[in-house]
Amino acid sequence: MTDSRIQADHLRAKIMDAEAAAAFIESGSSVGMSGFTGSGYPKAVPLALAARIEREHAAGNPFRVKVWTGASTGPELDGALAKADGIEFRLPYNSDPIAREKINRGEMEYFDMHLSQVAPMAWQGFLGPLDTAVIEVTGIRPDGSLIPSSSIGNNKTWLDRAEKIILEVNEWQNPALEGMHDIYYGTALPPNRVPIPLVRPDDLIGDPYFRCDPDKIVAIVRTDTPDRNAPFTPPDETARNIAGHLLEFLVHEVKMGRLPARLLPLQSGVGNIANAVLTGLIDGPFDELTAYTEVIQDGMLDLLDSGKLRFASGTAFSLSPDAAASLNGRMDSMRGRLLLRPQEISNHPELIRRLGCIAMNGMIEADIYGNVNSTHIMGSRIQNGIGGSGDFARNAFLSIFMTPSTAKGGKISAIVPMASHVDHINQDVAVIVTERGLADLRGLSPKQRADVIIANCAHPSYRPHLADYYRRAREHSFGQQTPHLLAESLSWHQRYVETGSMIP
Ligand code: COA
Repeated sequence: MTDSRIQADHLRAKIMDAEAAAAFIESGSSVGMSGFTGSGYPKAVPLALAARIEREHAAGNPFRVKVWTGASTGPELDGALAKADGIEFRLPYNSDPIAREKINRGEMEYFDMHLSQVAPMAWQGFLGPLDTAVIEVTGIRPDGSLIPSSSIGNNKTWLDRAEKIILEVNEWQNPALEGMHDIYYGTALPPNRVPIPLVRPDDLIGDPYFRCDPDKIVAIVRTDTPDRNAPFTPPDETARNIAGHLLEFLVHEVKMGRLPARLLPLQSGVGNIANAVLTGLIDGPFDELTAYTEVIQDGMLDLLDSGKLRFASGTAFSLSPDAAASLNGRMDSMRGRLLLRPQEISNHPELIRRLGCIAMNGMIEADIYGNVNSTHIMGSRIQNGIGGSGDFARNAFLSIFMTPSTAKGGKISAIVPMASHVDHINQDVAVIVTERGLADLRGLSPKQRADVIIANCAHPSYRPHLADYYRRAREHSFGQQTPHLLAESLSWHQRYVETGSMIP
C-alpha cells in the first residue's frame, strides 16, 4: 500500500509509537523541538516524554531536559513538560502559563533571546551540543527530504545540529503546504558570511524542503492532531482606537511622501492589539500591501482574504482554532500568497533593514522618554519574552509600539516615569501609540519626547502625576539630558507591588 505521508521506503522501519520514540530522550539532554506560536510543534512525543518523566519522578529518579524551540509552542509541549517538572532550561520565547509560572517561581531557567539569533548561537556552539531534535513535518518524500509543517522556526538548525532525530508526521497538516516554504541554506558563520539574496518579501531564495541525514533518524511517529492556539479577543474600543491612530498616522506619512502608497512590508507582532491593527487595515485606504513578518495571525489572513494584502512572508502561523481550521481547509488557495521561512531569515536584521519594514509590536510599558519594556511585569516577572520585537524594532524603517494606556482595570499605567525593564532603548522606538493618541518621536531629544508621550499617550488619570514627576525631575535631576528623580522613578512599580495599584 502506498503511504502518501511517509514516501521514503528506507525509513519505514523507523515508524513507532510516541512512547517508544520518547525513550530515546535522556535525562539532562538538550532537545530541540519544532514549534512556533502554537503551530508546527510536536504533539505526541512531548506528551509521552512528560508521562515518562512523571513515572521517573514517582520512582524517585530525577529527570529533566533542556528544551530549545522556535518560540512558544502548545499545551502538549511546554504545558505538559512544565507540569511534569521536566524542563530544567528553556529557550527562547515562551507563552505557556504553566511554564511561565515555573520560571517566575525560580524553578526553571529561561534564556530569553532575540529570535533571529538562536540558530547562529547554536552554530557558534554557545548553547552546547544538541542531543535530540523532535520535529513535526507534513510528510517525508521518497528521497528522505522533509515537507515542513505549519511553522519553520529553528527546524533546519535543529535537524542539522542534532545527533538524533525524531520526526512526527502530522496528517492533520494539509499536504497542500508542500511548496509553501523557503528554506535558505546559505547562512554561515563569520568570516564566511555573504549577503542574503532577498530584496523583496516574495523572493524565493531556498528549497521547499528540509534536508535530513537519514542515519540520524531514530524514530518516526504518526500523529493527526490540530495546532492549538488561544482565540484572539475581538477588537474592543481600545484596540479600535489604537488601530485608528496608527492608520491616521500611516495615511499622513504617505501624504508627506515619507511612505509609498503601498506602504512598506508590514511586520505585526503577537497579541490582540497587533491583530486588531491588521483588521483595521482592511478598511484602510492602502492596497497591494505586503508583509515581511514573523507570525501570520488571524488579522493577516483576513487582510489577505480582503485582497488588501497581496503577499505575506513569515516563519509560522499563529492562528486561532477557527482560523487554523479554515486555512487548513483551503491551503491550496493561498499558494503564492503565503510563505514560511526559517526564523533566522524572517527576522534577519539585514533583511528587515533592506526591506524597510514597518514594525508594529505590543508592549508592557514605556517610560516618558520612550524606552520600552516588552517582557517584564514590575521589572522582575517575565510575561512572554522579547520574541522578534528586538530584531524588528532596531532595524525597521518605522518601529511602532502599541499598548492600552492602562492595565489591570486602570490600576497600572503603561506610561511610567522609568521603565522597570528595558528591551528597546529609546533610539529603537520611533512611535508609541495608546488609545489616547500617538507620539511620533522621530528626531526628538529625550525631553522633547517626554512632552509628547505624556501629552498624547498617558491616561488622563495618570497624566498629571507624570507631568508633575517630569517637572520636578527637570528641577532636581542630577543631569538634564534625561531628567530623573532616582529615588522616585520606580516608586510607581513599588506601590503596585505593595498595594496592588500604581495610583498615587
Ligand atoms: N503592567 C503589568 N501587566 C501588564 C501591563 C503592564 N504595563 N501591560 C499588560 N499587562 C498584562 C495584561 O494585564 C495581561 O495580563 P493577563 O494575562 O494576566 O490578563 C498580559 O500582560 C498580556 O497583556 P495583553 O493586554 O493581553 O496584551 P497583548 O496580548 O497585546 O500582549 C505583550 C502584549 C507585550 C505581552 C506581547 O505583545 C508580547 O509578548 N510582546 C513581546 C514579544 C513580541 O513583541 N513579539 C512580536 C515580535 S514579532
